[in-house]
Amino acid sequence: MKKTIRTGIIGAGMMGRTHTEALRRIPGVEVVALADRNEALAKKTCEELYIPAAYADYREMMSKEHLDVVHVCTPNFVHFEACKAAIEAGVNVYCEKPLANTAAEADELTALAKEHGVLCAVNFNYRHNAIVQEMHERVAAGDWGRTFLLHGTYLQDWMMYDSDYNWRCIPEMGGASRTVADVGSHWFDTVQFITGKKIVRVYAKLMTVLPQRKKYTTQAATFQKQSGDDYTLVDINTEDAAFILVQFEDGVLGNLVLSQVSAGYKNGFTIGIDGSSYSMSWNQETPDRLFIGSREQGMTCVQASADALHGTARRYATLPAGHVVAWNDALRNAIQSFYEELSGVPNNRFTRFSDGARIVHIVEACLASNQSGQWVDVQ
Ligand SMILES: NC(=O)c1ccc[n+]([C@@H]2O[C@H](COP(=O)([O-])OP(=O)(O)OC[C@H]3O[C@@H](n4cnc5c(N)ncnc54)[C@H](O)[C@@H]3O)[C@@H](O)[C@H]2O)c1
Repeated sequence: MKKTIRTGIIGAGMMGRTHTEALRRIPGVEVVALADRNEALAKKTCEELYIPAAYADYREMMSKEHLDVVHVCTPNFVHFEACKAAIEAGVNVYCEKPLANTAAEADELTALAKEHGVLCAVNFNYRHNAIVQEMHERVAAGDWGRTFLLHGTYLQDWMMYDSDYNWRCIPEMGGASRTVADVGSHWFDTVQFITGKKIVRVYAKLMTVLPQRKKYTTQAATFQKQSGDDYTLVDINTEDAAFILVQFEDGVLGNLVLSQVSAGYKNGFTIGIDGSSYSMSWNQETPDRLFIGSREQGMTCVQASADALHGTARRYATLPAGHVVAWNDALRNAIQSFYEELSGVPNNRFTRFSDGARIVHIVEACLASNQSGQWVDVQ
């Protein structure tokens, strides 16, 4: 019998819970502990999810629990210190995106992981969707031809009221960029995975359409609405929306619109990629559908199923067609690919720290371009 992998979770918010659920679908992994600086929440979450040990301090969890892996599911500003502590303790790390709030921190973590010989990944889950894998397979196949252009969006509405305020609005916690780092980072990682090409230059215009927001005395949880008079107005200096042009290493151009203030859009994450033979488009809100465009037939739809997909993408269609493989499945696939490599089966599909650090460099290039009004090379 193989040894069980002992995993600890840091952060009991939305992602701490979904990671725990995903881990329970991976054989051989046991979630043995959870830490949240809100001790009452840590205890409550452990009781609800049947996790044996609750901690208020993740360092104490790491020193007592003999962990093989920690999942960092905290607000962005904690990623650097929690990843650093884990790596220095010889614990493998699966960290939420963005890897860190600055490229310098992300590079430091990448170097540290290498020095300590631990396996480290960033949770860019969308590339593990079955249709995204299929798009990757099709671009890699000979019949795709040449990539003409890319286009896409990540549109949300959960920050559209001035009463929407949380740690993501505070640069010291969420980072200097909000919308680009939070959701643009997903688009960057996913299109780089599909094309197999790096984004090397960006031209970005960032917008803060709500320059002041209401900070309530009692803060609601992420994604929850607030009302009443018990607030102070605070200045906002992170972006609500962005227009970004990207250039890939082969010269191909792409265009991206990002927003957290577009009413009715929840997770309107779309990717269109137009090749010389046909086009492909995907909308993560209909996650098991790939639209193939041809000049002769217009748009036709391919539904995710082992029969319809190609190459490695087939193994991502884990259910018969019509049973939608979706967000939770992509998260499980993402985490599973990391654990496969940890168990000695090489896997080249998850986002390593070096790739995650590069995404932070792209975000910084967007901030610099917005400042200078110029195209900026990704460092
Ligand atoms: N990959 C995705 O699709 C996706 C989706 C949502 C969020 N995220 C990322 O996941 C991370 C967490 O987001 P969330 O929405 O779950 O946040 P959240 O606000 O719901 O939860 C964060 C939790 O971390 C805890 N925490 C804060 N500081 C801590 C510390 N020092 N030690 C231990 N716990 C601490 C908080 O008490 C809270 O319970 C963010 O980095 C975010 O960017 C990723």
